[in-house]
Amino acid sequence: MAMSAFGNRVKFALAGEILEIANPLLPGRPHEELIRHAELGSVGRVLELCAGTGYASRLLVGRHPEVRAVGVDLSSEMIAVGRRKLSRAEITNVTLVQGDIAALPYPDNSFDTVMSVFGLHEVPTAVRANAIRESARVLGPGGRIVIVDLDRPASIGLLMDAYLLALEPRHAREVCGNGLVDLLTNSGFSIDIHKPANPFRMTQTIVATVGAALDD
Ligand SMILES: C[S@@+](CC[C@H](N)C(=O)[O-])C[C@H]1O[C@@H](n2cnc3c(N)ncnc32)[C@H](O)[C@@H]1O
Repeated sequence: MAMSAFGNRVKFALAGEILEIANPLLPGRPHEELIRHAELGSVGRVLELCAGTGYASRLLVGRHPEVRAVGVDLSSEMIAVGRRKLSRAEITNVTLVQGDIAALPYPDNSFDTVMSVFGLHEVPTAVRANAIRESARVLGPGGRIVIVDLDRPASIGLLMDAYLLALEPRHAREVCGNGLVDLLTNSGFSIDIHKPANPFRMTQTIVATVGAALDD
């Protein structure tokens, strides 16, 4: 059953603290995987999409104290949990902002790295397409996007189908396989790395760079 926008709000109102505990226990440690790939180039100014409680941004600045990261998320509940964590840990170089990734409130060329973990499967098709176009815009030519998100390895396809049906919105499966890669390519990115999921890791990893000429 597709989850309504209201259902999603309830889900994330409850999820903030739980995700904080679960994140480091997930197979393949997806948040660590995201940061490892963000670190492959110069990190610079960072924007995290669907940042939730800002867990990944906190991991990143823990390893790169010089970095400033902005995390955007729609859920005021997730942001509230995240801000408490930032304040307790006295982290001042991560800012959490409530907003919609389909319309990023930042000028062109204002970030060097956009990153997202478990975010893009959550958003409806049109929002995802806008978010990728917006990412290209705020990055500008040469900017990098780093994504870790769900995938559906054929070897555990039925298990993933059951998971997607039970716990994720209907549009979530659109990111699987080449879904995200195709979206990025059609939005002016060139793919540097695409690591599909495997039976031990249900996530894919993508690193892509904005090309010189962006489509309107
Ligand atoms: C599965 S959570 C992942 C959170 C975080 N990235 C993590 O891994 O802990 C997905 C997040 O996407 C956010 N979200 C959903 N739609 C959004 C939108 N249109 N714009 C910004 N954030 C959105 C939700 O509020 C939620 O916090």
